Amino acid sequence: MNIAKQVFEGVYEVGQNIATINLTPGSNVYGEELVKMDGKEYRIWNPFRSKVGAAIKKGIKEMHIGQGSKALYLGAAEGTTISHLSDIVGPEGMIFGVDISARSMRKFIYLCEKRPNLVPILADANQPMTYKEHISNFSIDVLFQDVSQRNQAEIFLRNARAYLKREGYGYLSVKVRSISHSERAEKIVEDEVSRLRNEFEILQVIPLEPFEKEHAMVVCKKR
Ligand SMILES: C[S@@+](CC[C@H](N)C(=O)[O-])C[C@H]1O[C@@H](n2cnc3c(N)ncnc32)[C@H](O)[C@@H]1O
Repeated sequence: MNIAKQVFEGVYEVGQNIATINLTPGSNVYGEELVKMDGKEYRIWNPFRSKVGAAIKKGIKEMHIGQGSKALYLGAAEGTTISHLSDIVGPEGMIFGVDISARSMRKFIYLCEKRPNLVPILADANQPMTYKEHISNFSIDVLFQDVSQRNQAEIFLRNARAYLKREGYGYLSVKVRSISHSERAEKIVEDEVSRLRNEFEILQVIPLEPFEKEHAMVVCKKR
């Protein structure tokens, strides 16, 4: 394990793992391993803790995010996945992280203090206009969503209409069992995808097993 190979902008293979270059060398975020190599410090990205990480391991074809990107992330929680995206967008980029839980937000704010490219927003993602003053001056290149709600596609569409630029990219993590306990998983994912089709071109639908049971990542592009 002595050469890191870039697989996407800002994403590397380090041995069997994926990793990002640590924007805050010397500190980790969620107990992930730090690996020093070629004068850089890499943070190992755990696909069992991050659906974007899982989608990369499961063969995502492209990552539409890089140095300087502006992103909106719904369901920031304590910042596990966002911390890797923060490494990728670097000091010129910006990521707005929305979460409804005050408890998670408290930990996320602590992370934002260390990483100036992260902006915490305590809000309900169902109501994108309530955080307009934070975001409306920015053109959002990429929208990520990982919220455990019944109306996942609807939340995604509302935010995309409000903030995502035309031809911007979306990454919707569909948590099947937040939508129905009885319906077949494939059918639930299909239904969520079909809700996006009018407004998005669907690029990839990636089942996230074995990293996340009954979850899929929908990668799409705004028309
Ligand atoms: C599975 S966790 C997200 C994990 C995170 N994406 C990561 O990988 O680091 C789901 C999060 O969605 C948040 N959430 C649920 N409903 C929400 C809503 N209506 N608006 C904003 N956040 C919401 C929860 O508080 C929780 O933190």
